[in-house]
Amino acid sequence: MLLAYDQLLAEGYLDSAVGSGTFVAANLPDDGLPKSRQRPSSDPAASPHAVSRAAVAAQAAFAQAVGFRGQAPTYDFQYGVPNVLDFPHELWRRLLISAARRRSAKILAYAHPSGVPELREAVARYVRQARAVACSAENILIVNGSQQALDLVARTLCDPGDRVVIENPHYSGARNAFSVAGASLVPVPVDRGGLSVETGEQIVSDAKLIYVTPSHQFPTGAIMPLARRIALLNWAEALGAYVVEDDYDSEFRYLGRPIEAVQALDTKGRVIYVGTLSKTMFPSFRMGYMVLPTALVEAFCAMKYVNDRHSAILQQQALAMFLSEGHFERHVRRSRVRNAARREALIASLRRHFGDRVQIADENSGLHLLVWFPDLTAQETPALAQAAEKLGVGVYSVAPYFIGDPGGCGLVLGYAALEPPGIDAGIALLRRGWDRVTTQ
Ligand SMILES: Cc1ncc(COP(=O)(O)O)c(C=O)c1O
Repeated sequence: MLLAYDQLLAEGYLDSAVGSGTFVAANLPDDGLPKSRQRPSSDPAASPHAVSRAAVAAQAAFAQAVGFRGQAPTYDFQYGVPNVLDFPHELWRRLLISAARRRSAKILAYAHPSGVPELREAVARYVRQARAVACSAENILIVNGSQQALDLVARTLCDPGDRVVIENPHYSGARNAFSVAGASLVPVPVDRGGLSVETGEQIVSDAKLIYVTPSHQFPTGAIMPLARRIALLNWAEALGAYVVEDDYDSEFRYLGRPIEAVQALDTKGRVIYVGTLSKTMFPSFRMGYMVLPTALVEAFCAMKYVNDRHSAILQQQALAMFLSEGHFERHVRRSRVRNAARREALIASLRRHFGDRVQIADENSGLHLLVWFPDLTAQETPALAQAAEKLGVGVYSVAPYFIGDPGGCGLVLGYAALEPPGIDAGIALLRRGWDRVTTQ
């Protein structure tokens, strides 16, 4: 009872005066709050001039986003979703609790934008050892996933109208960040070795940035050979441009020696390296890192500060422990084995149900396959996706990743979230959908 009084006093509902007792407060704390309505009845539609050009571009990008539909299909081959059940959730919970127990000002107050020192050290050790990236903790900036890294790159290095080279096809998250910043995109074709540097040299004479996914080109899967990596660095040097190396899924290489990052070959401070934990841990974690050339560290830190001050400290502390105690490496090793099995299951299933009616771009790494269906045209891809959806299968066209015509019917099939029996059941149904479209 006394506790209840104390609570009401603390919240301002009661007043107490020594010698005269406790009374209901004359001014209740909620008095004066306007009565809320769910939505102002006269809410006007936003005029096209109400929002910035950047917001108009962002709305156009968001309208293309997949993954927000109400009910997920039974067999969903959506790219970009790892198998969240592979993740050691119990261990992660313990690390979060252990970080939360340290009730120091270090955890609870505002912090430096670059990230907590233990995590920057742990990330620097990891990228040096796993990707041969040349760096120290001072070069690391902790960010909220690669998407924030790309946004920071665009804001820190581009003024409206600056030219940015992107792969064609390319990761739409990068295109969104650069185009919303007002950059002028220059698509350069991709071949079996990734971005065609030779073509780029012929068609581009001026650019601020060159965005690439050299260890596993998104979405084609091409791996950039060494000679081309060197040519890319020379080209960037000649243009005075920075290379943005998006190393989004390099942990998942299933055969052969890992290839070192382009950043490892850079002697001129031209490469901005971007890594994410969305594929190895889980996407809602929203954590990633950048390895910046020393000359850019200050400008990026300042931009991160303006953007969101810094990434969440509790998560950073837990991640530092996850990395430095060896859990991350063990988890990646285990999920690599599982994802390799899922990949093999998908290839076997495509072969079983489609024979040579599919062409598979297969480079033995990553979490998705790009699959072409030569009997269908690019214009028939939506019909194939719709036929599959009616049968409970989610498949996604490659077309949104192209500027211009993809040149055929292609699907990006993410397999990490499914297990082999589900993969086979889904591909069997996709074949039924394909039969319907081709016999129409
Ligand atoms: C090329 C590429 N970069 C980055 C990401 C990851 O983005 P984020 O770290 O923002 O989740 C993805 C995932 O879909 C990707 O395909």
